[in-house]
Amino acid sequence: MTILAIESSCDETAIALLEENGGVIEIKQNLLTSQVAMHAQYGGVVPEVAAREHVDIIFPMLKASGISRDGEGIDVIAVTAGPGLVPALRVGVELAKVLAWLWNKPLVAVNHLEGHIYSVWGGETKPTFPALCLLVSGGHTELILMKDHGQYELIGMTRDDAAGEAFDKVAKLLGLPYPGGPEISKAAEQGNPNAINFPRPMLNSGDFDFSFSGLKTAVRNEISSALPLSKGELEGVRVADIAASFQQAVIDTLVTKTMKAIAHTGAKSLILSGGVSANKSLRFTLESTLSKQFPEVSFFAPNLSLTGDNAVMIALAGIHRFKAGETVDPLTLVANPNMRLA
Ligand code: KG4
Ligand code: ZN
Repeated sequence: MTILAIESSCDETAIALLEENGGVIEIKQNLLTSQVAMHAQYGGVVPEVAAREHVDIIFPMLKASGISRDGEGIDVIAVTAGPGLVPALRVGVELAKVLAWLWNKPLVAVNHLEGHIYSVWGGETKPTFPALCLLVSGGHTELILMKDHGQYELIGMTRDDAAGEAFDKVAKLLGLPYPGGPEISKAAEQGNPNAINFPRPMLNSGDFDFSFSGLKTAVRNEISSALPLSKGELEGVRVADIAASFQQAVIDTLVTKTMKAIAHTGAKSLILSGGVSANKSLRFTLESTLSKQFPEVSFFAPNLSLTGDNAVMIALAGIHRFKAGETVDPLTLVANPNMRLA
């Protein structure tokens, strides 16, 4: 089966072409353009600007994908229908609708979060169910129990900021550019993760929820107390220590809660995904803690090229939606910014 996938929910425009044969995946095309540099000047993503960029890039990208103009060879089209920024989502959704309608091909609406989860499905070994998913991105921090393909139960979520959002906000406080995650993890490599004992929010709350906004406030307080009264810039060493200690607090919280959720759910696999899964220290700590505490549970994290938004993950999720017979009508599909998984 050959699937064409389109993603435009935030600040990445992406088109992928995948071939699936008996569970074996071949990525034929993986095209991606990031607008990160453009949004960096605003310190975050501006929806209207993102949409305009998607419009400019998506058609040339479709052409560059080399697909036949009559859709020959394509069996199904998948598109991210939500959640995300409405003006941005609509660009991909409308293109997918037109193609599906003109070519008379089945259309599948993929949830962006489901896409992140399926980013680990490209390899030879696939997760076994039930699988616990720790989804950490710029907009979401969730623990989801996946009982089977397409069957999700939300176990826990953030009550305020998402993990990626916390990285972005703390980076801003430290004077580092957007997006903050990669910057913080780079700075953290030179710092001492035990230099400052930042709070580990909701560690013993008895549920599987997270909260990161208090941690951000603690970082802000630490910065103001570290800054000399004359108001200057933080020394590089201090930036590195704050970054490393903040990152450690986030990782400790994510890892501890995830282990508790594994024990609670009896999950057979653990899937780490979303933009923050690019964080090497998080990947390493989560995998090594899992292998110590639950050696029978297998660990999955996306290839580093698939941690951020991309269309390959939308295709991977789309394959399963299509196999389950879940196609949508191209004439009525509407982008849904609040689309839910469970
Ligand atoms: O999944 P994603 O690309 O977009 C959303 O769907 O939100 O995630 C983007 C988030 C940003 O907040 C970014 O700072 C964070 O992922 N991120 C990281 C790292 N790389 C990206 N956070 C921590 N460490 C990283 N290495
Ligand atoms: Zn994402």
